[in-house]
Amino acid sequence: MAEFNSKIRTIEWIDNYSRMVDQTKFPYEFEYVNITNGQDMFDAIKTMIVRGAPAIGIAGAHGVVLFAQELAKQNLSKNEFVKKLIEKADYMASARPTAVNLMWAVQKQKEIIKNSNDNIPTIIEKLKINGKKLENEDIEINKKIGNYGAEVVPKGATILTHCNAGALATVGYGTALGVVRSAFANDPTVQVFADETRPRQQGARITTLELTMDGIPVTLITDGMCSYFMKKGMIDMVCVGADRIAANGDAANKIGTYTVAICAKYHNIPFYIAAPLSTIDRNIKSGDEIIIEERSHDEVTHINGKPICADGVNIINPGFDVTPHELITGIITEKGILKPDYKKSIEEAFNK
Ligand code: MRU
Repeated sequence: MAEFNSKIRTIEWIDNYSRMVDQTKFPYEFEYVNITNGQDMFDAIKTMIVRGAPAIGIAGAHGVVLFAQELAKQNLSKNEFVKKLIEKADYMASARPTAVNLMWAVQKQKEIIKNSNDNIPTIIEKLKINGKKLENEDIEINKKIGNYGAEVVPKGATILTHCNAGALATVGYGTALGVVRSAFANDPTVQVFADETRPRQQGARITTLELTMDGIPVTLITDGMCSYFMKKGMIDMVCVGADRIAANGDAANKIGTYTVAICAKYHNIPFYIAAPLSTIDRNIKSGDEIIIEERSHDEVTHINGKPICADGVNIINPGFDVTPHELITGIITEKGILKPDYKKSIEEAFNK
């Protein structure tokens, strides 16, 4: 079993490379990988060595620095450097399509590149500083989300979560699991039910690991079990993360989240999304505009390299689904808990 300590940083810039925890190895091994060039960062995001919307945002920001370091070795003019780096940044932003934090963080780096009158070494220095700033802010934001969220966790609550929106999906502390951490700090009778989260099993492999290591009681259930436990009165609230939230509050998160939200509505259980404002994409009106990543069929047909179904069976593997805003009780952000009407409360949060 991997040794995980939730005080560690999931991803961190060190001198001239990015160090991250390899999340494909959980729960067996805890290993860091050093990513030293832009293409390796693109691949690390795509193959989910780093995953979770806020963490891949930081990975994208680091990836731009890595590309900048490589281009700096090519004796380009400043204009050529800027042009090529912007192309590389756009490429980095395309590594995964659903989580908007990736595009958001790369955009922050692009603004530095485009607005800079500096020479190439100074641009690179500024990109590094900005990457570090985004890292540090991520943890601060998650703690704020945690504290706001803890206010709506009932005493002794059992919180159902889906996928992993924890320390390992962010730089540290987590969003949905940040709410759990803050609630647990005030009330040690709080506990979690974690959906397994097929096909990649982030709930089983990652959420149970990080909660267990923090001493927070967690019960693993398979994805189809949530309505059973809700009917029995064993779930008091649902709290999940998000990969992209539209201007009307529709929220994309790991495939299966929509099912959980429908079940919660039917059983009158509050359903919360916990996410930073960087996950909100005000350029899109509704969830219909969110691009859903289609992932490899092997994720469905195989577990641990072994087939689990008939050879040649048809497969469809969307990585995410969209929960309509009508099913969401509140969106827990670093600016407080947003309530319906989301169009209005989202706008207000950005103007706070
Ligand atoms: O495919 P993944 O593992 O990157 O998906 C992660 C999720 O869906 C998380 O719930 C979401 O990114 C929020 S993480 C704070």
